[in-house]
Amino acid sequence: MYLYGLHTSPACAKPPARYMQTKKTSNMKHTFTLALFLIITLTVCGQGNNQSKSENNINHSDTVLKTGWYYVSDQETNFKRQLYKSSDFFYINPDAIVTVENFEELKITENEFNGNKYSSLIIRFDKQGTENWSIATKKSIGNQLALIIDDKLMSVPKVNAQITVGVSSLSGVGTKEELEEILKQIGVNETVKPIAVSDEIIYLPTPQLEGLISVEKALYNRRSHRNFQDREISLENLSQILWAAYGVTLPNTDYDFLRGGFRTAPSAGGLYPLDIYVAVGKVSGIASGLYKYISEEHKMIRIIDKDIRLELCSAALGQPMVKEAPVSLIYTAVFSRTTEKYGQRGRERYVCMDLGHSAQNVYLQVEALGLGTCASAAFSDSFLSMILKLSKEEEPLYIMPIGHNK
Ligand SMILES: Cc1cc2nc3c(=O)[nH]c(=O)nc-3n(C[C@H](O)[C@H](O)[C@H](O)COP(=O)(O)O)c2cc1C
Repeated sequence: MYLYGLHTSPACAKPPARYMQTKKTSNMKHTFTLALFLIITLTVCGQGNNQSKSENNINHSDTVLKTGWYYVSDQETNFKRQLYKSSDFFYINPDAIVTVENFEELKITENEFNGNKYSSLIIRFDKQGTENWSIATKKSIGNQLALIIDDKLMSVPKVNAQITVGVSSLSGVGTKEELEEILKQIGVNETVKPIAVSDEIIYLPTPQLEGLISVEKALYNRRSHRNFQDREISLENLSQILWAAYGVTLPNTDYDFLRGGFRTAPSAGGLYPLDIYVAVGKVSGIASGLYKYISEEHKMIRIIDKDIRLELCSAALGQPMVKEAPVSLIYTAVFSRTTEKYGQRGRERYVCMDLGHSAQNVYLQVEALGLGTCASAAFSDSFLSMILKLSKEEEPLYIMPIGHNK
């Protein structure tokens, strides 16, 4: 189970709750099984568990926990819930971090990797929810948070980093059908909006911090691919690729030049001279057009509201991959961001070194997602600048078409 900045702990790591409570109806039926589980858990997890508490019988089973994110507690006075599809128990602090009232969007997406389908639940928070989420994830680094849906404990991922973007995304909670069923039960499917709140601003789904292949495998398998299927890529994959390219991983607002914080790719002086435009032809859930990636908020803003792939292909000297790929990233640079500090050395060396770092991240992330790309620098600068409506200070450097390899 993955969540940006979070991942689930091993089954026996530290289930803070240990003892049966008398849940009124259905849980009674499972008393014996759970008691048996208790014995097994204690045997397996044993004395290593320093959160183990003496038995008490506080019963919070009458109180329904609202759908939302909560702190996991080691206090037995808090609310006990059994983890969905697991025999682990956790105590939940009932003061919610975000509840369903803070959910602006809730969506189930289906992704595919190497022919295997997996489903994700994407939750986007409103402004208040985003603030609460940022504070809670900062406070909880190294600890677990709990997602409750319909009073059921769905997931207890571990927090690895503060999450300032107001989106949580969970994979591996269940099949698409199971997730749909859960959402139906809590009646939120009525309120589900597409992930794109408006055609102009796309808040991207939260990137994952764990993938399906190792970095070594991605390095080994990486190749430039130029033949793509006529098939859309998911918004989740696009989000992941943009994050890998230039996403903020260490937020910092002390210095304006950082524009949001330190990134996935190194940059001379932390000056981040690059910008990434996204020519969307076929990406699930969003309109085609040209977007600009805004790292600091992990969002895209639309600049042109039509498919520009044909023009892009002409600018790229007719290379077919550019019109065939469902999406292309276009790197540009504002050289002055770097040359103001480093002069000519910045122009001749540093900006393109920065580009190489970021583009390689794209290559590896694309590979890890089972997709393909090819860095392309053969294009007419002036034609491309005109199509992208670039300002005078922006210079185009790379086009990277991305898609499902043929
Ligand atoms: C600076 C640079 C510019 C490139 N421009 C193009 C291009 O315009 N068109 C293209 O098909 N490939 C382009 N490539 C991809 C190279 O052809 C490719 O990396 C090379 O053949 C090695 O293959 P590999 O990437 O599969 O290892 C470019 C690569 C680099 C590093």
